[in-house]
Amino acid sequence: MRRALIVHASRHGATAGIAERIGETLRAQGIDADVAPAGNFTDPAPYDACVVGSGVYMGSWLAEGIDYLERNVETLRTRPTWLFSSGPIPNASKQRPVEDDPYDGALGPADGPGSGGRKKIEALAAAIGVRGHQIFQGAFDPNDPPKALSERVARMLPPVKKILPEGDFREWDVIEAWAKELADKIGQKVAVV
Ligand SMILES: Cc1cc2nc3c(=O)[nH]c(=O)nc-3n(C[C@H](O)[C@H](O)[C@H](O)COP(=O)(O)O)c2cc1C
Repeated sequence: MRRALIVHASRHGATAGIAERIGETLRAQGIDADVAPAGNFTDPAPYDACVVGSGVYMGSWLAEGIDYLERNVETLRTRPTWLFSSGPIPNASKQRPVEDDPYDGALGPADGPGSGGRKKIEALAAAIGVRGHQIFQGAFDPNDPPKALSERVARMLPPVKKILPEGDFREWDVIEAWAKELADKIGQKVAVV
């Protein structure tokens, strides 16, 4: 049986929930899938394929997600690896609708001011040679207290308050469809190796 590892960096649980659903979907497709927080530093070496995802805050992946990729570049580049970001919530992305450019909506512009978080993850994606990077809509519960000082401050800023709608916008059908595609590719990819 093919083995897949799904790693998540999640501050408030939305990304962890997406990772769990990807794991369940892969299992339903006959893949032996393990789901683990990035902070556990699970070694990807025993797995045939990996999926790594993070919540996006102020245009950047969470530090433990970045750290996981950096520590495992050499291993991840030798097996099919996909990334996902959990972030945009409706109207949270400046003037343009998220559908126009999902990367812009979640991680900011490709160049210029505010592009640092996106550049970082794109450089790691290139070093690993990822097969894809999917952007999923996330969730925001203002009653869940901030877990970092930067988040506490950001939540108080009037522009952020204005663009952060409350709710769970995760699109489970989109997530499951993507995971099914991965299951097909993991099966095919490993079968021809
Ligand atoms: C202070 C703050 C800043 C955020 N910044 C972004 C952002 O720059 N881009 C984005 O797509 N989503 C942003 N979000 C939305 C979160 O990424 C989204 O809620 C995500 O699903 C949270 O994942 P988690 O619960 O796993 O931490 C922000 C949310 C908060 C509270």
